[in-house]
Amino acid sequence: MRLGLLTGGGDCPGLNATIRAVVCDAERHHGDTVVAFRHGWRGVVHDEASEMTSAMARGIIGRGGTIIGTARFHPHEHEGGLDAVAATAKRNALDAFVVVGGDGTLDAAAHVAETGIPLVGIPKTIDNDVAGTDACIGFDTALATAAEAIDRLHTTAESHDRTMVIELMGRESGWLTVCAGLAGGADAILVPELPLSIGQLVDAIGRRHRGGSSYSIVAVAEGVDPPPHRRFDTRSVGPLLAAALAAATGYETRATVLGHVQRGGPPTARDRLLGTRFGVAAVRAVHEGAVADMVAFDGDEVTTVGLERIAGRIRPVPDSLLDTVRRLTLA
Ligand code: F6P
Repeated sequence: MRLGLLTGGGDCPGLNATIRAVVCDAERHHGDTVVAFRHGWRGVVHDEASEMTSAMARGIIGRGGTIIGTARFHPHEHEGGLDAVAATAKRNALDAFVVVGGDGTLDAAAHVAETGIPLVGIPKTIDNDVAGTDACIGFDTALATAAEAIDRLHTTAESHDRTMVIELMGRESGWLTVCAGLAGGADAILVPELPLSIGQLVDAIGRRHRGGSSYSIVAVAEGVDPPPHRRFDTRSVGPLLAAALAAATGYETRATVLGHVQRGGPPTARDRLLGTRFGVAAVRAVHEGAVADMVAFDGDEVTTVGLERIAGRIRPVPDSLLDTVRRLTLA
């Protein structure tokens, strides 16, 4: 078989482990040729193709990012985009695509599959919100990075008797903030799924200080609506929230926007393993005749789910996790 391979959407740690697994397994165990496309679906539309061998994948398992590049581009949203994908597939004599992406890239994959091109998706995103799977490549590494950042804020917050606000990624989802906030022992966790007013937060921080604590750590997801405050030149919720808290509590307050640090650097062993298992499972699924599917984690097993079941949906943070936030933080 000739397999097209692409990584789309925001990068994350674990993509290179996935690429390595797809290329090595396809070549060595199936005799396939892998055609890698640079820059996600945009590279498919513009036919940025080159054959990739297992020798080229040597030494990449522990590298962050993606060696074939990525882009936020969805062919069905561009005039002639789906026709261009079909033309590229024909020109390169592809039998199927393996598409590594988050909800946007996989939704685009579902549109491509509807045109009759066989395709298997692999879920990745530090947001951890792809529907139909219990795990996404990249989340474990981002979680470790964010939790460590919160650990580091504790010591400086305590030394200065400050309130520290840390803004974490997760466009529409509080997964990363909830998990990193709990793992880092944050005193308050603000996510879109668990609304908390500034007034409630101010009261809670006040109670905490009256109870003898000299500092507080507040983890906030970037997707939370910023308070109505315009002292900073940014609409980023972290600095706005910090300014609002400083004004309302009178406590010295600082903001950290962790940003793309959360997406960079080497993957954890868990993300390398997940990418490796997903890569092998995707190649197997293609050979077993999957045409519009995604590999997924279900408990401890890798399975496949139909792309139509995940497209346009996101995986919510479970109530049990939100309940843990309610019990252990100022929420
Ligand atoms: O989708 C992953 C993600 O890191 C989100 O958490 C974040 O909102 C977004 O990507 C940032 O995108 P960009 O790298 O394009 O600024």
